[in-house]
Amino acid sequence: QSMLDTEEIGHHIIYFDSIKSTNTYAKEIAHETPHGVVIIGNEQTEGRGRMGRGWTSPKGKGIFMSIILKPQIPPTEGAKMTQIAAAATCLGIRSITSLDVLIKWPNDVIINGKKVCGILTEMSGELNQVAYIIVGIGINVNTEEFPEDLREKGTSLLIEGKKHYSRKEMIVAILNEFEKLYQDYIKSGSLQSTIEICKKYSAMLGKEIRIIQGNKETIAKAVDITEEGLLKIAQEGGKEDLVFSGEVSVRGK
Ligand code: BTN
Repeated sequence: QSMLDTEEIGHHIIYFDSIKSTNTYAKEIAHETPHGVVIIGNEQTEGRGRMGRGWTSPKGKGIFMSIILKPQIPPTEGAKMTQIAAAATCLGIRSITSLDVLIKWPNDVIINGKKVCGILTEMSGELNQVAYIIVGIGINVNTEEFPEDLREKGTSLLIEGKKHYSRKEMIVAILNEFEKLYQDYIKSGSLQSTIEICKKYSAMLGKEIRIIQGNKETIAKAVDITEEGLLKIAQEGGKEDLVFSGEVSVRGK
């Protein structure tokens, strides 16, 4: 079992046995809370997902955590934190399980085509400088089973690995990986190490995908992830485009 060996992230953890949403709470306290503080809930009663959806957060079964970050970057760079988190989660789970964990750009971590982790990044600040960024990570760890409507799309480490995993150990592994990639990015200004991982463990590169932006739908082949963390797609006829991770949903064709 490894120990937390970070310099900035996770030395101060605020733990709740039950909380509405760690992201909501993190936003409430972010202004007076230092960089690197992590909020963890044993359950969330109003867990939030992307695009206004909810996030099922049963007691004792998952990892529901939010990292408060205060980097010197503009909000336009904020989406990079999501990718750092996805890469860190993928590596963290891989270091503890032998599962084939992949990253579905921009912010899902999947196993056998089903979602095991979601990331919700939220921020506030001025045009040229964020005040804070909250990176919320939700992982289905020891969830025995899903409600019928989620069964097709969602899975847990327990279901895939057929054993229980220590959430504590996994949190430590993820925070260690997160800080390495985060510091790499902050020090170099480049997302390169994160992108390498996102490409190595990509669930979609080389595949035909559907990209849904508002009510616009594009079918294309995912060909690359750029240094900036954008998805490069090739449409029929070869026309290439870059997709920004904002409000998009990407599905298999
Ligand atoms: C998604 O895939 O839609 C994102 C899900 C994010 C869930 C996590 S759990 C911890 C944090 N608190 C929340 O309310 N949401 C995020």
